[in-house]
Amino acid sequence: MEFKHISVLYDESIEGLNVNPNGIYVDGTLGGAGHSKGIVSKLTGGRLICNDLDLNAIDNAKLVLSEHLDKVTFIHDDYKNLLENLDDLGIDGIDGILLDLGVSSPQIDDPNRGFSYSKAAPLDMRMDTTQTLDAKVVVNTYKEEELAKIFFEYGEDKLSRKIARAIVREREKEPITTTDRLADIIERCYPAGYRFKHGHPAKRVFQAIRIEVNGELEGLYDFIYSVALRLKVGGRMAVITFHSLEDRIVKNAFTELEKDCICDKHLPVCVCNKRREVKILTKKPIVASEEELKNNKRAESAKLRIVERV
Ligand SMILES: C[S@@+](CC[C@H](N)C(=O)[O-])C[C@H]1O[C@@H](n2cnc3c(N)ncnc32)[C@H](O)[C@@H]1O
Repeated sequence: MEFKHISVLYDESIEGLNVNPNGIYVDGTLGGAGHSKGIVSKLTGGRLICNDLDLNAIDNAKLVLSEHLDKVTFIHDDYKNLLENLDDLGIDGIDGILLDLGVSSPQIDDPNRGFSYSKAAPLDMRMDTTQTLDAKVVVNTYKEEELAKIFFEYGEDKLSRKIARAIVREREKEPITTTDRLADIIERCYPAGYRFKHGHPAKRVFQAIRIEVNGELEGLYDFIYSVALRLKVGGRMAVITFHSLEDRIVKNAFTELEKDCICDKHLPVCVCNKRREVKILTKKPIVASEEELKNNKRAESAKLRIVERV
């Protein structure tokens, strides 16, 4: 299957990184390597570390970046292990990092990966196909309350309890092993008139299961915070998110990093020693232009935030 992913907010993120031709850059979420290609094309003496959980993405990137392989290092790992991986490579400070969170189009479009509610497939949703936790395990073994909590917190679905109850009832008859059966169970929880008013009724629950399977929100705040401290002065971090939960985490981490002294206002002298670590360059997140939205519907919910190390 062809690996086709249109990079979101491409110009805005490459310009936002303000690439130093001799710098060390990280693309934490390589995907279709579109952003990586934009970064590496600007490098002369520098290096680009390309990281992804998905082996397909890495194999594909070796072709996409074939003209630049002398400047690229690939890592197949969770970006949350990046600091250890940089240590192993003997890299101390970095000049920039891009995170373009979530799933790539090939992951959604390949029916065998089981990410999509609109394609009949085995329930899977693993970005890293070598991990054991998949959507089948979540749907068939998690307790009803756990499912309801995930659907509510990660999917912001108002019918989370009802859907969790329906899933448990159905899986007692027979394990739920396919995307279409799960989508059908969810769809039937919605009143007929309401079903497709806010997009596909299974959209939010599928998002929630995907976040759970891939641990997408766990450790994100700590990662953003700690990797920002690894930037050299003047180095930049650009993060693209696709839903409000992720965006909130990124925004909060950037806000905290920017704070200078967090002592109680009434204390005469600072005792916290917190210093401003970054300058936020995007007071409001950058969103896709009308032009981009015409060509790429997946850019609709994208938000880009950028900071610079001070
Ligand atoms: C939206 S795509 C990136 C697209 C890319 N910027 C481009 O221009 O083609 C997100 C990628 O991040 C990867 N990913 C998601 N979470 C990850 C994690 N925790 N660690 C490493 N890779 C991750 C996914 O496997 C996917 O390939």
